[in-house]
Amino acid sequence: MNLTQSVWLSIKLNYELIMIPKLGSCYYPEHWPEEQWQKDAEDMMKSGLLWVRIGEFAWSRIEPEEGVFNFDWLDRAISILGSAGLNIVMSTPTATPPRWVVDKWPDMLIVDAEGRARQSGSRRHYCFSHEGYLGEAARITEIIAKRYGGNSFIKAWQLDNEYGCHDTTLSYSESALKAFRVWASKKYKTIEHLNKSWKNVFWSMEYNDFDQIQLPNLTVTDPNPIHSLDFKRFSSDQVIKFNRSQSNVLREYTKKPLIHNYMGRITDFDHYEVGKDLDIASWDSYPLGFLEDRSDQSDEFKSKFMRFGDPDFQSFHHDLYRAVGSGRWWVMEQQPGPVNWAPYNPEPAEGAVRLWTWEAIAHGAEVVSYFRWRQAPFAQEQMHAGLNRPDGVRAPGLDEASRVFSELKEFGSIDQVQSKVALVFDYESCWAWEVMPQGRDFSYFELVYDYYRALRSLGLSIDIVPPNESDLSGYKVVLMPGLMHIGSQLESAIKGFDGVVISGPRTGSKTLDMSIPSSLPPEVPGIHATVARVETLRPKALITIKDHGHFKKWMETLVDCDNVIEFCDDGRPAIIGDEKNLYFAGWADQDTLRRIIIDICVNQGISVTELNDCVRIRETLTHRFWFNFSEEESTVGSIKVPASGVFWEML
Ligand code: GAL
Repeated sequence: MNLTQSVWLSIKLNYELIMIPKLGSCYYPEHWPEEQWQKDAEDMMKSGLLWVRIGEFAWSRIEPEEGVFNFDWLDRAISILGSAGLNIVMSTPTATPPRWVVDKWPDMLIVDAEGRARQSGSRRHYCFSHEGYLGEAARITEIIAKRYGGNSFIKAWQLDNEYGCHDTTLSYSESALKAFRVWASKKYKTIEHLNKSWKNVFWSMEYNDFDQIQLPNLTVTDPNPIHSLDFKRFSSDQVIKFNRSQSNVLREYTKKPLIHNYMGRITDFDHYEVGKDLDIASWDSYPLGFLEDRSDQSDEFKSKFMRFGDPDFQSFHHDLYRAVGSGRWWVMEQQPGPVNWAPYNPEPAEGAVRLWTWEAIAHGAEVVSYFRWRQAPFAQEQMHAGLNRPDGVRAPGLDEASRVFSELKEFGSIDQVQSKVALVFDYESCWAWEVMPQGRDFSYFELVYDYYRALRSLGLSIDIVPPNESDLSGYKVVLMPGLMHIGSQLESAIKGFDGVVISGPRTGSKTLDMSIPSSLPPEVPGIHATVARVETLRPKALITIKDHGHFKKWMETLVDCDNVIEFCDDGRPAIIGDEKNLYFAGWADQDTLRRIIIDICVNQGISVTELNDCVRIRETLTHRFWFNFSEEESTVGSIKVPASGVFWEML
């Protein structure tokens, strides 16, 4: 048995033991009178929400002044919740350092690219590089871990809250500057080596000493792209280090799984690397907020899906975080009603909360936990719905959650299976193309997401894999658009792979030092061609592909190609390669991607189902789930997918 198959088998066995998915909610005992806790706990249990996450913002109530602790209320809350039968996720409160911590360490604040300190008064105001805060975070973690590490009601731990949210990974503080110099000196050893790798001869940027290096902000025009890329690599490493310092402390006091709640479309740090120090990945899924706030789709699209969210956005993250958690993942926060933070905050369609929950479950979520149990009538999030209204009356989301609970009891366990299609997602490529987009709207996330959408619109289930994947066995098609550099592990996996590899545009187009490879791109195994030139295109400028379809945004002029499969109208190669390796010369539209993927799937014996843009499919080991992101019933062949609903069939 090869590695991939054995990993999947162990995940499956694991699931068989534990895998009847559960529901939960996020609760803030410190926000409510103590007399209410007991009833809340009982109501959660009655509603089928068996997990409860607490504590992630409670530092000022746990330690109101340095060294002065008040655990009584938390002891009682844990005891009430746990005695009611709830499984508790306890959190470290380090995303909200109280004011006294900031007074103690005034220079711990994160600094933006304009050099301004981002003030306390909300949350996530710390700089990952501040050693004093790192120590402070480890200290409070240890105190909480010591007290509750052995508590039998606590079944898992969450570290911090949403690393990187509110644009908080990169910091241009003095601490970051000092740490970056140390990081660079460790990486390059000598300043000569750094100068050579960064090619600092350009514009006389050569240094004599690591202490002369500044952060890549406030420069007159663009800083050296490798300077910026290395700063992003460094900033990601600081998140890993911060997380590791907490996980090391927690592991001394508890054997319970450690979890972080990642966010949607936050790519400033390498989640795969952070995930290596944790047991379970989770993410916070706000479909309507993300559609309004984080989507590049048109206004028309946003209006169409305003009550469901983009049908591919949630599943993309489910698949991504399944990879980050090496198979184990949750939704830690699920949108239950309108949020407060997007430009527009509509109500979900009736049935959407159930739909989102079932979709997460079909993609392998072990737990789906709603944010939050009850809407707070005060402070920043008073306009954010909960499962209950501020006066305690049930809100519509709670009925939908309870319905899923009843359905799950009938359904039993849900086992995942390796997909036939793998899509590589690489954080470093995100950073590289942010540093050097070449065209205003070039986004690596969007490029990969376009491929993902095309695959999903054909009814395919997808595994997202990291860029250092070393075993592709079990897959039949692997896609790696825009991957800046193919590392040696992936390269040898590709060489031994007997399915089809799809790459381009921009795949294998930079060295790790962010230069153009001397033999010119693409450096992709099995592709014999040279990128002679590239151009980026204005939003409405399209390049027509002869056989049908268009390229947008990005176009490469390929020369010396062994085999051209399709040409553009202007005579340039559009798609090159052979039956095992395909390379796209530009950013293909959905029609083109779908057309090519259908051909490949037919050749590989993978069945495809062409879906309209509201219907999506996910296959598990035993079932095919159909999801309908619209308020009309949808018919696909003999299947009727109910409006705002889910339909499942045995395979
Ligand atoms: C998340 C966060 C929660 C809450 C929620 C509101 O990003 O983790 O604490 O703020 O958003 O939607």
